[in-house]
Amino acid sequence: MQSDQVFPHTIVPWTKDHDASNFTSNLQSITKYIQDQAHRDVSSFASSIFVLTAPGDMVIRGFYSLSSISLVYSDLPDRAKKRLSRYPQVSGILLGRLGVDRDFSEKLYASSGIKPRFGEFLLTDAQLRCLKITKEIGSALLVIDAEQPSAQDLTTGATDPLNFYLKYGFTPLTSKPRRLIKTMRAVAAEFKSV
Ligand SMILES: CC(C)(COP(=O)(O)OP(=O)(O)OC[C@H]1O[C@@H](n2cnc3c(N)ncnc32)[C@H](O)[C@@H]1OP(=O)(O)O)[C@@H](O)C(=O)NCCC(=O)NCCS
Repeated sequence: MQSDQVFPHTIVPWTKDHDASNFTSNLQSITKYIQDQAHRDVSSFASSIFVLTAPGDMVIRGFYSLSSISLVYSDLPDRAKKRLSRYPQVSGILLGRLGVDRDFSEKLYASSGIKPRFGEFLLTDAQLRCLKITKEIGSALLVIDAEQPSAQDLTTGATDPLNFYLKYGFTPLTSKPRRLIKTMRAVAAEFKSV
């Protein structure tokens, strides 16, 4: 069952007219980001933010952010280094933040009996978008910084997102275990779009 069958939705660029006032993430930092910081990051071009909404609706049910990053070649796992030129820095796109509106997602699940799988949908959309971007501005890596739930987040039911990303083929860096990567080649192969 596709998440679209539970809740028809679309993913569009964030605008200042989007509404995050009732957005509640399992991680307080994610809630705070979309409510308080998104505007500054988009207007300064520091990050692009894409939001999941019902078509034509302005209420944010999920989002992710993208920005540019470069990683030190020697920090990469051997498998990722294969077929990469030995430049000291390797280009990448950072999926800095990703979150779903927990309350909305839980409500949908309770009423339909079907998991909306918004996290998976957002992560897939982000990977496809990065593939498209990298055809214009080359980026060898997709990079994710998995936020660490705070002690308070854990008391309100948060789970560590690191395992979520591992499930979708991202590999942690040995030198910085909460930073994960997937080569764009691997993304292209996965989505059959080399
Ligand atoms: C992490 C998050 C995005 C996952 O979204 P979600 O809508 O709950 O996840 P989905 O329903 O799409 O899950 C897809 C699969 O991943 C699994 N999964 C979800 N969260 C997971 C986690 N934290 N650890 C391990 N597996 C996880 C699900 O069980 C499901 O597995 P299945 O294929 O066996 O059924 C969401 O829980 C969230 O917003 N968390 C708070 C913010 C956060 O941690 N963001 C990431 C840090 S930047």
